[in-house]
Amino acid sequence: MRGRMRKTAYQVTIAIDGPAGSGKSTVARRVAEKLGFLYLDSGAMYRAVTVFAIRHGIAEDTPKLIDMVKRCHIDFADNGKTILLNDENVSTDIRSPEVNSLVADVAKIPEIRHEIVRHQQRIGEEGSLIAEGRDLTTIVFPNADFKFYIDASVTERAGRRLAELRAQNVDTTLKAVEAGIRARDKKDTSRAHSPLRIAADAIRVDTTQRTIDEVVDFILGQVKSKD
Ligand code: CDP
Repeated sequence: MRGRMRKTAYQVTIAIDGPAGSGKSTVARRVAEKLGFLYLDSGAMYRAVTVFAIRHGIAEDTPKLIDMVKRCHIDFADNGKTILLNDENVSTDIRSPEVNSLVADVAKIPEIRHEIVRHQQRIGEEGSLIAEGRDLTTIVFPNADFKFYIDASVTERAGRRLAELRAQNVDTTLKAVEAGIRARDKKDTSRAHSPLRIAADAIRVDTTQRTIDEVVDFILGQVKSKD
């Protein structure tokens, strides 16, 4: 994976963790735009590795996957909106139902996490950034200037994900989406390596009854109050 520059003192890091469908990607993207920060969608990187694994038929072959991930180039373009896997735009492929159901199994492999986390930390050295995922507040950026844990009820999260999938013409039901989210939550919180958990110094934000704009304003308020 490609080399990056070192972080300097005036750079600000905002780290966000939370479960699937909590709204953290949308919130992080908007905060990044408002503050002119880099946006890092860490889940997209695990998804890109999963696309690679599916294409090469090695999703269940852990040794081969570990070997291949070292030779994968994962990069972002368009301030995090586009993800490139070996220079190919895979932004649509990473959201497929097949990737949704396999990604947590790929992401639990410690050697894969190690490679991806190093890459994320190098991106973090480039400038002020807002990064979101499952272990950003705990493992990737434990010294982040601001930490948030964004959550919502499982029914609310499933409803949001269903709307996204329907907008992409994916034919599914609320029951199926909720079952998929529960299964992924369980894998992400119970895995041995870097499970999803609330960092002791993170501010917890429940978005069940809040709009995206309210959450964005809350985060901007926190950041500006420390200016
Ligand atoms: O967008 P959504 O919340 O559905 O998931 P995502 O952020 O794209 O992450 C997809 C999956 O990648 C998660 O369910 C985790 O299994 C894994 N992941 C991870 O292990 N660590 C991260 N920092 C981010 C994602």
